[in-house]
Amino acid sequence: MDYVKTAIPRQERLFYGADYNPDQWQACPDVLERDIELMKEAGVTSASVGIFSWTSLEPEEGIYEFAWLDRVMDRFAEAGMFVFLATPSGSKPMWLSEKYPEVRRVDKAGKREPSGWRHNHCLSSPVYREKARAINTRLAQRYQKHPALALWHVSNEYSGECHCQSCRAAFQAWLKARYGTLDALNEAWWSAFWNHTFTDWSQIQTNDLSMDGLQLDWLRFVNDQHVSFMREEMVPLRELTPDIPCTTNFMGTHEGTNYWQWAEHVDQIANDLYPLPDDRANTWQHAIRADFIHSLMRGMSGGKPWMLLECSPSSVNWGGINKLKRPGAHRQEVLQAVANGASTVHYFQWRKGRGGFEKYHGAVVDHDGSNRTRVFQDCAAIGAELASLRSLVQGDCPVAEVAMIYDWESRWALNTSCGPKELAGTGPFPSDLYTETCFDHYEALTRCGIAVDLLSTRSDFSGYKVLVLPALYLLSEELGERIRAFVQSGGQVVATCLTAYVESSNKCYLGGFPGASLRAVFGIWNEELDNLPADTRVEVRGAVEGSAKDVVERIHLDGAVSLAQAGSEFYAGEALITENDYGNGVASYLAARFEMPALLAFYRRLLEKASLCRSIDLDLPEGVVFRCRDSSEGRVGFLFNYSNQSREVEFGKLAMAAYLDPQTTYSGTIELAPYESRILRV
Ligand code: GAL
Repeated sequence: MDYVKTAIPRQERLFYGADYNPDQWQACPDVLERDIELMKEAGVTSASVGIFSWTSLEPEEGIYEFAWLDRVMDRFAEAGMFVFLATPSGSKPMWLSEKYPEVRRVDKAGKREPSGWRHNHCLSSPVYREKARAINTRLAQRYQKHPALALWHVSNEYSGECHCQSCRAAFQAWLKARYGTLDALNEAWWSAFWNHTFTDWSQIQTNDLSMDGLQLDWLRFVNDQHVSFMREEMVPLRELTPDIPCTTNFMGTHEGTNYWQWAEHVDQIANDLYPLPDDRANTWQHAIRADFIHSLMRGMSGGKPWMLLECSPSSVNWGGINKLKRPGAHRQEVLQAVANGASTVHYFQWRKGRGGFEKYHGAVVDHDGSNRTRVFQDCAAIGAELASLRSLVQGDCPVAEVAMIYDWESRWALNTSCGPKELAGTGPFPSDLYTETCFDHYEALTRCGIAVDLLSTRSDFSGYKVLVLPALYLLSEELGERIRAFVQSGGQVVATCLTAYVESSNKCYLGGFPGASLRAVFGIWNEELDNLPADTRVEVRGAVEGSAKDVVERIHLDGAVSLAQAGSEFYAGEALITENDYGNGVASYLAARFEMPALLAFYRRLLEKASLCRSIDLDLPEGVVFRCRDSSEGRVGFLFNYSNQSREVEFGKLAMAAYLDPQTTYSGTIELAPYESRILRV
């Protein structure tokens, strides 16, 4: 980290607001006045402004127009509200992309995109970088002393890739810097395969699907390009407004962005999340996935508060079937983020526009324009509630006893290796075999009442009792050594199928899996992998019972003991779950993807053996989750019923006061309505 992170100086309460697009309403000046009144009524503290308004700010090259934004900034300041001012690079002005066609992206087939759409500038274009820097400089110069300016919202949801000649040349230069010589590159990429040995740097393409090493490096390169673009955008902001923090909005587990690396360059972690809870039977499993993503943000923030910069107060418009949020679900979504450490909840969007792609996307203010809608009333009630939770502003979540590693490099390496990767994700969470495995283990731990901190491969996990490594497919010798030392000194590690197959170039380890010198730690040899069709299950018998799916490995005991064995298939009787005492610790290996009952049985056993503390010492029914967060007034508990059915929670002799009404105490049997959330003093 090459700078000290800047905190938001004026955050006295949880920020609450939305993306706001007054540039679309310049022909109706009364709308701004009306919006300010409605914002006050809804308890809004802040809005993200100017995200897609480059042309309104610079209608012609070098000609700037700030009057409309001056007015917005001034009106916010007068109302005691803040602006998260966006840099507008998320969508290119038409004049720019027509005059400089090289700023438009080129797809894999070599075709340049037409002007239009958004989030599609070329990542290496010097012109686009220069133009973005120019407008950012103007914005920072103009508003550096403005009392409404609280945060820089740098661009919007950076993502995607460009295959133009300039990006290809940049990729080749990046590879040269990484490998030094072509021999080293050919060796790392195993280029002799299918006669791909490169004899000149200029031969290297950006998209040869037959080369897993190239594909992995391409993903790393694209990620680096985004980070470098973002950092370049921040240069004038940091120079001119050193006290104003910079952030950019992440997209959870988005497949193309290794946010652990981005996190090192922003002052505040911020995320967008649209979990779309609905009334299907498994709605609470979706909520637990949202919880995973919140925990990921908390992890990137080093446990400190982070920002939920976009969610929807109502339905979205892009989900195919766009259901309204059922009563309770909207409040729950907001409180779930807060319970997991959010210091800010912003919606997309404040007001529905009259036209364009998002005119039917949920908003605080509908086309009706009034405060009388259900959604507006909901938002106002939530605004008031968040105002009363101001003691949480600086409150962290307690450090968990269990850590889990989430690693984009393993995900990329697995996804670029032809073989065991096919598994479509479910629902709106961008997903794959790797992420699904992480979700499954997080869900099982959550359902056992165990809190989990999410870490990167570079994080220090030495202080945790248990370290969970779902499908850590790419695992370096250096990390292998840290895992070994962790177990040696008394830690408990849980690894799963697909652990340590490849090293950082995506080349397989030799000498038997798991690689990275971890065979002795787990006391096993993983000989081969059986990929199962979607409808096939393998029985699991032993101390853990249930079934396995998707991926089953045939492993041999080499010091470990078997806890559970396959009950069907030609490998019936062979170990599927093992445990190995190593040094002062224990290493468990789960040689398959398991259905939830087996995973639950495994983690319940672990809970006892490792003497883990549950977040609350109660047996909670399915779909009910308890979370804690510290505040300046002590610990706050959040009890959520994520399911669409009512649930009874047995508090027994335990008694807890309602956070906002200490006269009310909960004990005995507590009935939670569908999607109900309660806030308690712990
Ligand atoms: C986000 C995006 C917003 C808006 C929103 C709709 O991904 O940042 O600008 O499009 O989706 O759900």
